Amino acid sequence: MAEPTVTVTNNETGKTGELPLIKGTMGPPGIDIRKLGSQMGAFTYDPGFMSTASCRSAITYIDGEAGVLLYRGYPIEQLAEHSNFLEVSYLLLYGELPNEQEMEDFNSIILSHTMIHEGLRRFYTGFRHDAHPMAIMVGVVGALSAFYHDSTDVADPVHRAISAHRLIAKMPTIAADSYKYSIGQPFMYPQNSLGYVENFLRMMFAIPSTPFEINPIAVQALELIFILHADHEQNASTSTVRLASSSGANPFASVAAGIACLWGPAHGGANEAVIHMLEEIEDPKQIAKFVARAKDKNDSYRLMGFGHRIYKNYDPRAKIIRQMCHSLLREQGSENQPLFEIAMELERIALEDDYFQARKLYPNVDFYSGIILRALGIPLNMFTVIFAIARTAGWIAQWMEMMEDEEQRIGRPRQVYIGEAKRDYPRRQE
Ligand code: CMC
Repeated sequence: MAEPTVTVTNNETGKTGELPLIKGTMGPPGIDIRKLGSQMGAFTYDPGFMSTASCRSAITYIDGEAGVLLYRGYPIEQLAEHSNFLEVSYLLLYGELPNEQEMEDFNSIILSHTMIHEGLRRFYTGFRHDAHPMAIMVGVVGALSAFYHDSTDVADPVHRAISAHRLIAKMPTIAADSYKYSIGQPFMYPQNSLGYVENFLRMMFAIPSTPFEINPIAVQALELIFILHADHEQNASTSTVRLASSSGANPFASVAAGIACLWGPAHGGANEAVIHMLEEIEDPKQIAKFVARAKDKNDSYRLMGFGHRIYKNYDPRAKIIRQMCHSLLREQGSENQPLFEIAMELERIALEDDYFQARKLYPNVDFYSGIILRALGIPLNMFTVIFAIARTAGWIAQWMEMMEDEEQRIGRPRQVYIGEAKRDYPRRQE
């Protein structure tokens, strides 16, 4: 049977082209437009990549209409219930769940890389004391390539594997140090007898002078948040990592670019923005006013933590995390209670509102993760940093996949030029 194709005709020139259809294992096919420019003398125009696939990938699958998210074929609900973040990282990186021995080996490789170079620690003091931890993350993760250049030959698979392990292992240490620096407390070294999440919480909250007790609820909640945020196919920050490394840039520099992209409020910065929004609303009686603003076409205001480019149904991650959020809030009679009540009322009102229903705007993962992190006492400016720790697993898995992809070329989008046509430089009178 002939390969399926799509025929396109340029009505202006009369040129016709046959474009192959690429089918994946699931989801809609892609139209292979690589020869469009040479065949038709035209490019596609797709700001924001609304209809453009940038690669073939075997890592993560999303069906936004059905609200489905799979990592390497495994439903996120099952991973959230039965797995842990390091196992999920292994799965994302290598494509299969590890057996007991493989998990043990992976665990010890990661543990062997949790410390950071002492010189890198001194790097922190160059930042202002009140710097946002995400700003520090961009700088320090980028600087890893200055300290670990023994693993930056991206053509060498062994170097690639070492860099991948280093990034996953060091990210919690770098993140916790960013926070410690911003509050003027001593950095804590990792303690490798602890699990990945416990270690991070200890480096964040312990101080050398006092024994530290790990809160099991915090570990459980953070483990879940890490699993849910580990990958999300070709989102903005992952695409940034792929684009940056498509030039052959090393993975530390490319992941630093991904962190910069993640910081924006339309992406990972939304979990922090949700709390700012709830604080600004202040009182459940004011919700209607803010919802009206979000619906007003003349106002750029948006409800943070609502809507998603791909999910036009409930974000499956939000469904899972919502349950944890509600049970945490029920258990906690904390000072954060008024904020949580505003959040729950906002969720109720928006879900019943015609505007949000018509546009299929549901609360997304950031709406609930922000609230959970707040309930756990995580400082606001660390919310997106936590997202970055988790997403490092996905960034690195996507980078590894890209480096082995024979179709991979430097990313170089085209444009439709709308500036002045060629004109002559004016000759001024002497
Ligand atoms: N509040 C009010 N209206 C909204 C919102 C919102 N949060 N999100 C989308 N809309 C409206 C938008 O005005 C537009 O209306 P109309 O069709 O009348 O012009 C329609 O819904 C479609 O919006 P869009 O901007 O074309 O959608 P997009 O796919 O380009 O944007 C988004 C997706 C996530 C950037 C957007 O929904 C948004 O800004 N949400 C708030 C920020 C947020 O929560 N981001 C976290 C995303 S999930 C995790 C992550 O990626 O990090």
